[in-house]
Amino acid sequence: MLSERPIGVFDSGLGGLTVLRELQKELPNEDFIYLGDVARLPYGSKSQSVVRKYAGRCAEFLLDKGVKWIVIACNTATAMALEPLKLELNVGISGVIEPGVRAALSASSSKQIVVMATRSTVGSEAYLKEFSKQSAGARVEQVACPLLVPLAEEGWFEQKVTEEILCRYLEEVSLPEYDVCLMGCTHYPLLEKSLRKVVPSRVHLVHSGFSVAQELKSVLSTQKLLKQERRKSGIKFYATDEIAPKLPMVSSLFGNQSQFEVVDL
Ligand code: DGL
Repeated sequence: MLSERPIGVFDSGLGGLTVLRELQKELPNEDFIYLGDVARLPYGSKSQSVVRKYAGRCAEFLLDKGVKWIVIACNTATAMALEPLKLELNVGISGVIEPGVRAALSASSSKQIVVMATRSTVGSEAYLKEFSKQSAGARVEQVACPLLVPLAEEGWFEQKVTEEILCRYLEEVSLPEYDVCLMGCTHYPLLEKSLRKVVPSRVHLVHSGFSVAQELKSVLSTQKLLKQERRKSGIKFYATDEIAPKLPMVSSLFGNQSQFEVVDL
């Protein structure tokens, strides 16, 4: 039965584990297959045609594993590849931008929102388009923060240098004018404690993970795709290159137990 199949989740690397963690919390009975395309990370500095090609390969891999739904956990891949993949695939697929924008708008009273994201996501203007679709009056400013992905990969979640780099990026926007800062990249929730120190306390920090999970639950329920059998659920982890043991990004989210199988796409 289709509903008993796993949910596929992919990201350019391991940042998508921040989304997977929320999915697992909201959908504890489901099985998941996670693919981190670490061999090709970062997507956030690449062109649309390249990101589309890579995202297509990730989706094909998950389809071959028999998934019932695909979640693109990566903001950059959502921005650049979700729409074409929706047309090409014969399973449901969703991304993180639409739910992220909904979460940001519901947290904001002034509808003045800052979006932090990779350079490619910012360049695609996918967030700007989604905000104007959901709320015509919202004022949104984007900031590209390319150094944050390597900092998170390094496990420098709360180092002084991380705070300094965050301050440097946020100097470009007039923070007092905004009441929400949307973390528009899978890696940024890992830096949330540092971000909290440099962003005024009245500014809400929002990431899409929770609303991605809630919205997926509701879609799967409507489409009668929620798993019915009550057997133990699990996650199978795949990556396109080796993952160093005890990597802080993995251990901070899933402990040291997660074993990645290396696959060649
Ligand atoms: N996963 C990417 C995103 O959410 C960040 C890492 C990358 O640049 O590939 O945009």
